[in-house]
Amino acid sequence: MLKPFYCLFLFVLPVVVLLLLFQSAGGEGMQCIRLSRADIERRLSTKTPYRSVANYDETPPQYAGCHPTRIWSIIRHGTRNPSESVILQAQNRLAEIKNLILEQTKPNLSSEDLKKLRKWSWEHLNAKEDEKLLVAEGEDELTELAERMQNRFPSLLPDIYNPEWYYFKYTATQRTLMSAQSFATGLFGRHRIHTVQYPPPMHKDPVLRFYKRCDRWKTDVDKNPETLVNARLFLAEPPIQSAVEQLRSSTGLPDLQPEDVQLMYTVCAFETAWHRQRDGTRHADSVWCSFFDLAALDALEFFEDLEYYWNDGYGYELTHRIACPAMADMFAAIGSSVKLENEEMQLPGRANATFYFTHSGTLLKLLAHLGLARDEEPLTHKHFASERRWRTSQIDAFATNLAFLRYDCEEMEPQVVVLHQERVVRLPKCPQDQDLCPLAMLRRIYADSVENCDFEELCRLSE
Ligand SMILES: *[C@@H]1O[C@H](CO)[C@@H](O)[C@H](O)[C@H]1NC(C)=O
Ligand SMILES: *[C@@H]1O[C@H](CO)[C@@H](O)[C@H](O)[C@H]1NC(C)=O
Repeated sequence: MLKPFYCLFLFVLPVVVLLLLFQSAGGEGMQCIRLSRADIERRLSTKTPYRSVANYDETPPQYAGCHPTRIWSIIRHGTRNPSESVILQAQNRLAEIKNLILEQTKPNLSSEDLKKLRKWSWEHLNAKEDEKLLVAEGEDELTELAERMQNRFPSLLPDIYNPEWYYFKYTATQRTLMSAQSFATGLFGRHRIHTVQYPPPMHKDPVLRFYKRCDRWKTDVDKNPETLVNARLFLAEPPIQSAVEQLRSSTGLPDLQPEDVQLMYTVCAFETAWHRQRDGTRHADSVWCSFFDLAALDALEFFEDLEYYWNDGYGYELTHRIACPAMADMFAAIGSSVKLENEEMQLPGRANATFYFTHSGTLLKLLAHLGLARDEEPLTHKHFASERRWRTSQIDAFATNLAFLRYDCEEMEPQVVVLHQERVVRLPKCPQDQDLCPLAMLRRIYADSVENCDFEELCRLSE
């Protein structure tokens, strides 16, 4: 007698439970794409925070019979504020977009994101005074990078500052100065960084920012409209068109333009970089990222990769050739000690550890000079779907760094190990079956660029 009743009960109960579950999920809002933090952080081009590319394995690279005796390293400043122009666009156009979304009767957002969007504003930023300043996350990136480097190379990077061992230099900007100080904090501790000496910073440092002194590069590449042709053509390609469509649908704003989508991407990138996820909550996530799906982020990232490829990378030969002063300085710094009858003799002038704090433009040109992250074919607006090595999110994140380490060995000539983002990389033309590249071989490989580095001649404007 009771059987059918039971069955009914057993059937109805789960349905009710399921309905209740759906109800609460639905009640959260209508939106359903939710990208993970890691998925977003890896796709932010040159606004990628360093934590997404850092190497947290501090095991020292070790080679039998060899020990590191010199390091020359060049580091991009850490996470910063946006430029004046981006701050102004966020305060004006993005604030307008925010209002358009909120004016809808049923905005397509979860209740949490809705709350975030209502509170969102960049009015606390002063476009003129705050532009490009290093932020707290940028300080942490540099301090933690220094700590890991010191753990890898404790004998080369002692925690006591000595001006004969250490040489630090930054460009005449707040973000590289603060980066240098944060790095020194990681090495020596907060209370000891006041003794660190720095040479007078220059806006157009011949080694740290060589391209600023190259008029021909400025005219032929940086200010040449040709340079951005591929990026512009890509704006008309299906991946960007679909991204714009996706954002029109997720925001409910059918009039959104590609520039609006780029602005949302940029603000999503900065807000993501500024705040790391600390306790597993989504509290610190940027509300602007929540409108994007993966394909849209990939398309916007590729647009930026194209821009940097042609402006600062492999696009034009001149761009990477002019990195030769930095290469020459590297060789002077790590090649300047000579072994005389087993006695290490130091030629005057160079410290054991050289650290330069500089900009994206320098790191990208130097990477291209070295032949790293090089694709077989030039990158064009047609290559979105192809595999590529040139990924600014990986090779040019905030605090991106290159290091050349000299190893002196008992039974071999001096060797060099190159690190990019704290990982050993093998340079083209160096041995591909081992990490060590003989210093003499490295000199030969770059002899042409370094010995014939006639910067003045290369950079002279043709009539
Ligand atoms: C720096 O180099 C000099 C000369 O090669 C050497 O005597 C000294 O121990 C080195 N210091 C460190 C910290 O490696
Ligand atoms: C809400 O956004 C999602 C993706 O973000 C989209 O797929 C969906 O069509 C949107 N819903 C409405 C009602 O616009």
